[in-house]
Amino acid sequence: MAPSTFNLKDVVRPNIWALNPYRCARDDYSEGILIDANENSFGTCVNLKNSEISLPKPKNNAKDMNSDTHIERYPDPRQLEFKTLFAKLRGLSSPNCMFVGVGSDESIDIIMRVFGVPGKDKVLVTPPNYGMYITCAQINDLEIVKVPLLLPDFQLDVEKVKETLKNDPSIKLVILCSPGNPTSSVIALNDIKAILEFEDFKGIVVVDEAYIDFVEETDNKGSVATWVEKYPNLIVTQTLSKSFGLAGIRCGIAITSEEIAAIINKTKAPYNVSTPTSLIAREALSDESVARMKANVKKIIEERTKLIEIFKSLDGVGGIPGSSDGNFILVQVVNKNGVPSSNRAYKIYKGMANNEKVVVRYRGNEYGCEGGLRITVGNKEDNIILIEKFKKLLNETIDEE
Ligand SMILES: Cc1ncc(COP(=O)(O)O)c(C=O)c1O
Repeated sequence: MAPSTFNLKDVVRPNIWALNPYRCARDDYSEGILIDANENSFGTCVNLKNSEISLPKPKNNAKDMNSDTHIERYPDPRQLEFKTLFAKLRGLSSPNCMFVGVGSDESIDIIMRVFGVPGKDKVLVTPPNYGMYITCAQINDLEIVKVPLLLPDFQLDVEKVKETLKNDPSIKLVILCSPGNPTSSVIALNDIKAILEFEDFKGIVVVDEAYIDFVEETDNKGSVATWVEKYPNLIVTQTLSKSFGLAGIRCGIAITSEEIAAIINKTKAPYNVSTPTSLIAREALSDESVARMKANVKKIIEERTKLIEIFKSLDGVGGIPGSSDGNFILVQVVNKNGVPSSNRAYKIYKGMANNEKVVVRYRGNEYGCEGGLRITVGNKEDNIILIEKFKKLLNETIDEE
């Protein structure tokens, strides 16, 4: 059960609670001669038929012009078609419990804007974490409170989080990331539940599930998206950037109570999701596309398993910390004495990028990630080259420490 002390009105910024949303004529009318929004009735200057660009045709029966490829028109502000399909995919009972935005990055930003009073409220994060939480908090003038994950498994320090929340009522948001970035490790469901049910915290728990489709579910491992139906203090962010392979269209989804979704939706810019994005996003939820997404996820998990075995066997690699539940792994580089070495990891990172044209991500400066390189699971061919070049750089850097 969610804490009985939770009261949404106390958590939303007063100016947002009182906000009268911007309304356009298109909210009420979307058929007929549309000369209400200063669009260009002569059509777009781009000849879609003769260009390389081809957009999917909408497969729905909706009659409104927003559902067709009319890019000279503003897009549908509500994205109801997409939300209905996404609710079905994720087993949610209503399309009204969602916000759709320009990637999870917009979700994270708008959540901070809705709940955090600049210069006053705080956000709790659990390093090592996705860098945008801190960047976004800084932009929104919200102070960051850090409770690091427990090492070596990158799990939540539940007692420390609770104690911190209890002692500081200005913390409005807790952001958990499962699987985490750069940890690639899920947070145990029991631990997420413990924070959601903590009576002394009256704020919002955000669970970032950008990589959730790569998780092999168990009793204590998996998505909490459907929990929004019983926890009014929960927001789950998901994205089409990862498992769906659609990072380029920028489409993220925040799943939450209908009440919170309504508040976020009245705060967003009216036309935040473009028509091309919406058309491709809806196509991504067709049975055929979802089947392809799942098949790709399966292949990525297979490649992930292979990569983990290979990296673990290399001299110069201390291990793969965490449970590797995402589409990437965290490789720990060690020196010749077997001690994690960020110095050597950095040299490998630079050498691979500059000389071998293989770009991984150096994470050795992050909390608990000494010697860390975050490596996305590539396709078979990429991975063969990755291993070859990585071994080469291990050899080149062995004597330098
Ligand atoms: C944990 C996490 N959340 C969110 C994002 C951003 O996702 P999107 O592309 O939907 O903005 C990323 C991107 O790498 C990420 O790692």
